[in-house]
Amino acid sequence: MQFLTHSILLFLAAAVIAKNIILSNDDGWAATNIRATYYKLKEAGHNVFLVAPVSQRSGYGGKFDVPSSSTLQTDGEFKYPPAGSPSWGHEEDDDHIWYFNGTPASSIAFALQYVIKEKFNGTSIDLVVAGPNEGTNMSPGMFTLSGTIGATYNSVYRGYPAVAFSGSNSNNSFFKDSLDLNDTSEPSTIYANKVTQFVEQLFQGQGDNSSRVLPLGVGLNVNFPKVGHDDESCTDPKWVHTRLSGEYASGSDLKYNAEKNSFESTSGSWEALTVCHNGNCSLPSENSIVDHSKCASAVSVFSIDYDANLDITNRVEGVLDSLF
Ligand SMILES: *[C@@H]1O[C@H](CO)[C@@H](O)[C@H](O)[C@H]1NC(C)=O
Ligand SMILES: *[C@@H]1O[C@H](CO)[C@@H](O)[C@H](O)[C@H]1NC(C)=O
Ligand SMILES: *[C@@H]1O[C@H](CO)[C@@H](O)[C@H](O)[C@H]1NC(C)=O
Ligand SMILES: *[C@@H]1O[C@H](CO)[C@@H](O)[C@H](O)[C@H]1NC(C)=O
Ligand SMILES: *[C@@H]1O[C@H](CO)[C@@H](O)[C@H](O)[C@H]1NC(C)=O
Repeated sequence: MQFLTHSILLFLAAAVIAKNIILSNDDGWAATNIRATYYKLKEAGHNVFLVAPVSQRSGYGGKFDVPSSSTLQTDGEFKYPPAGSPSWGHEEDDDHIWYFNGTPASSIAFALQYVIKEKFNGTSIDLVVAGPNEGTNMSPGMFTLSGTIGATYNSVYRGYPAVAFSGSNSNNSFFKDSLDLNDTSEPSTIYANKVTQFVEQLFQGQGDNSSRVLPLGVGLNVNFPKVGHDDESCTDPKWVHTRLSGEYASGSDLKYNAEKNSFESTSGSWEALTVCHNGNCSLPSENSIVDHSKCASAVSVFSIDYDANLDITNRVEGVLDSLF
């Protein structure tokens, strides 16, 4: 009887926590980071739909591509699957793992309008998780450029709470080569555990409220430092509240080589990336925490209300007043 009660309680506890999560990225559905995270979120009891681009789509931001034909004209990333395969589909042995010949942003729409709507009877989605990206996505300079963040702000403006996660492991690796959930020093495994811990806290922090985990129009951007095999001294990075803009924030730039009459791509830092118009101006920047402190992850809150604050709006409107 006691055993039975215990089992029922365990079942209830699990039932309360189990959530419906869409998981996407920009490195492609076959990337090690996203596969590790899929299994770890499932292990925690969640119903996870992995839906992601068939190919590497880093730097695509919010670009919205849909397949131009019903079959792939080129190989998927790691030839998984090869050219000639259908432009969308799922793992033969797992109908919760999908690819789509599109961008991160359109993969979110595909997840909602096709996978969930047509195949899973419109299951209600509690959270969208993007990543963990291979490589960090920090500063306003990366916000609109990153495909991982693109999937996230596309989810947020559709009304879904969403979190972008990015790792500091930049190796473009195939899950069939690199996935090792038993290797506790494998960066993808560490990140997957940290994502799961974070997601659990989001749902627990919600308390008994059956409502959303983040306010409407709000998302989170999370960046992890190098861990495990990439930095053996860091296996369990601590969480730090950060803001997108601030010290060391950077964006893409190019350098012109007059001798060769050619360009090379670099990154730049500008004062405009350090201004604080919104949020908590005392918080450190993402870059200062991940790149300039020891074993810490940056957690920033963003809003897709891109309007400037009231004071700035009024000042700028004043400049244009006589036109109106
Ligand atoms: C599909 O969802 C509808 C409404 O949400 C529900 O009434 C129906 O029972 C569901 N069908 C299946 C097969 O789950
Ligand atoms: C990247 O991962 C592949 C396996 O997918 C491995 O063979 C290769 O050595 C790794 N490269 C680096 C620089 O870690
Ligand atoms: C990983 O560990 C589990 C038990 O925790 C074991 O069943 C499985 O075979 C292991 N996998 C590998 C690849 O070693
Ligand atoms: C739960 O919802 C109520 C009413 O909307 C709100 O006042 C309260 O702060 C919420 N609690 C949490 C933990 O979000
Ligand atoms: C801003 O963030 C700092 C550091 O986390 C915190 O101590 C402070 O209370 C915050 N300020 C406000 C006004 O919330």
